[in-house]
Amino acid sequence: MMIKEALSWATEKLKDVCERPQYEAELLLSYHLGKDRIYLVTHDEDSLEGVEAFQELVQRRAKHEPYEYIVGEASFYDIDLFVEAGVLIPRPETEILIDIVAEIIKKENITCMAEIGVGTGAISIVLARKFAGLNVVATDICEIPLRVAQKNINKFALEKQIVLKKSNLINEVHEPFELVVSNPPYIAEDFLLASNVVDYEPKEALFGGKTGDELLKQIILDVKARAIKWLVCEMGYDQKESIQVFVNELGVKSIQFYKDLAGFDRGFVIEFA
Ligand SMILES: C[S@@+](CC[C@H](N)C(=O)[O-])C[C@H]1O[C@@H](n2cnc3c(N)ncnc32)[C@H](O)[C@@H]1O
Repeated sequence: MMIKEALSWATEKLKDVCERPQYEAELLLSYHLGKDRIYLVTHDEDSLEGVEAFQELVQRRAKHEPYEYIVGEASFYDIDLFVEAGVLIPRPETEILIDIVAEIIKKENITCMAEIGVGTGAISIVLARKFAGLNVVATDICEIPLRVAQKNINKFALEKQIVLKKSNLINEVHEPFELVVSNPPYIAEDFLLASNVVDYEPKEALFGGKTGDELLKQIILDVKARAIKWLVCEMGYDQKESIQVFVNELGVKSIQFYKDLAGFDRGFVIEFA
């Protein structure tokens, strides 16, 4: 089978699974060959080595397995992170959360923060790379994210700046910190998700409880109880009202909501009194 025939075959297999089947076919073939996409064009009549192994990759994607799990890597912000089944693939909207936190860190000269639910380490790693003087304690309740995050921390040589702890929320964080950031699980348990998400990504990273915002509210309570000044969280597009009502009753200095690039409510910044 020639490279161009393998690409047509893969594009056809992926046409009902992804929005850009040809592009994903090219990415998978580039990954399989360890070459860039230009190589596929300049060598399109070459015979493909390891046809079966390539077809296996395509069959996995055709069953809705996310591309990132197949290749073991995800692009996020300005870096590539290791990922594997059991850890959430970082999403583009979380880059907005990072920019908002970065502004606060700059403005307030923050030198220590905590992250709840580290996953691959995406948020903590990007922030630690932006601020060389920032120390981070990042928690997760699950083993796989902690292992993958440590691998990513090592990849960027950030061992001195980021410490991981297995913890429910911030219960095991005893170091001082001035800000908490979190992209916690916030999806309602009966929400219908696409097959590539619900069949492959970890439930612990997705579902926040019956209405979805239970963990977010617990985080708000815990951060207030620890007298930390700043909390920045990502949330679901339909959770603004319930979070607003909750903090109104609780009493905070201010809460500001932000939107994602599609215009959906996506998170909030709380300044506690
Ligand atoms: C939505 S993922 C976010 C991962 C990563 N921060 C990101 O933005 O890509 C949520 C993470 O929170 C973790 N988690 C869920 N419940 C938790 C809890 N009670 N305490 C700490 N971490 C928790 C999950 O294991 C998962 O890794």
